[in-house]
Amino acid sequence: MEKITAAITAVGGYVPETVLTNADLEKMVDTTDEWITTRTGIKERHLLREPGKATSDMAVRAIMPMLEKRGIDPEEIDVIVCGTITGDYIFPACANIIGDKIGAKNAWGFDVAAACSGFLFALETGSRLVQSGAYKKVLVCGLDKMSTIIDYTDRNTCIIFGDGGGCVLLEPNYEGFGVVDSILRMDGSGRQYLYQKAGGSMNPPTAETVANREHYVTQEGKAVFKFAVTNMADVSYEIMERNGLTSDDVNWLVPHQANLRIIDATAERMGLSKEKVLVNIDRYGNTTAGTLPLCMYDFEKQFRKGDHLILSTFGGGFTWGSILVKWAYDPR
Ligand code: UT7
Repeated sequence: MEKITAAITAVGGYVPETVLTNADLEKMVDTTDEWITTRTGIKERHLLREPGKATSDMAVRAIMPMLEKRGIDPEEIDVIVCGTITGDYIFPACANIIGDKIGAKNAWGFDVAAACSGFLFALETGSRLVQSGAYKKVLVCGLDKMSTIIDYTDRNTCIIFGDGGGCVLLEPNYEGFGVVDSILRMDGSGRQYLYQKAGGSMNPPTAETVANREHYVTQEGKAVFKFAVTNMADVSYEIMERNGLTSDDVNWLVPHQANLRIIDATAERMGLSKEKVLVNIDRYGNTTAGTLPLCMYDFEKQFRKGDHLILSTFGGGFTWGSILVKWAYDPR
């Protein structure tokens, strides 16, 4: 039997209209544009402020133009896998709601909760479903409406995160294009460094948890930085090495956009020159599960058939990893 790989055949992205700049944040917390820019590389982020709109609505706005461009009816979609930690509800899954809103009447699906690695883990899952031969059109999404779990009085976190994300369509390929290899990891012992204290079964919501602001993201930035900078660089290098690729063979690094210093350290470890490293953190901040698809969407026109892309993340959990993709199409 011919070997099936899961090719990315289309990419979509979306960020909401409202922009929160560093100058805006200077008026909200004790910070400066200079501090945020030099420590993170972020200049602005987008926030979903429309009443009654949630993560699924951002997904719909990324997915529909993508399917239209590719000429695919939503009823052809077999599976929806959505990386997110800010689904519309605790349950049902965001994938369910996305499916309903786009009219994917013949699909099943589920969410992947892996924080900033949500899209990467969802991509691995979706690609295995395609590789199995059982599914022909799998929609992999990664989006977060981080503004709903960010404390805009906490300067440690509110300067970092934004709303948005994107999606890719996976289809079977018989020439080796698509997801080639993956290295995915987690270490739950790091959970206390980046998490949402209340709202789950450990600390269910009470008046007290709300008063204590425990439904917002808590992060020990320095500790997370230390783990991120070594682990993301290590897996990115390891996936190159075990696939026999040198820095010349890698066309693009698509890194999680959490901190420009982490991206630079990863690129340096891989020996990549700056022009191969895709960066849009300045415009969107950290959209958690949204960063990788949003980055591919922004830079899609630069990718050529056969290009080697390395997608790398590090996030809460801890979760991290790298996926090697052989790009399947020239700019359309
Ligand atoms: O995507 C999920 C994974 N997350 C990450 O990868 C995030 C990893 N961590 C980071 O990116 C960085 O640690 C931060 C950007 C969060 C913080 O940068 P840092 O260089 O590690 O700063 P720090 O936490 O060590 O703080 C340095 C100083 C402190 O003041 P003192 O104690 O030196 O007087 C902080 O209180 O900067 C202060 N500070 C700020 N000052 C102005 C912390 N936040 C701010 C701020 N504006 N927003």
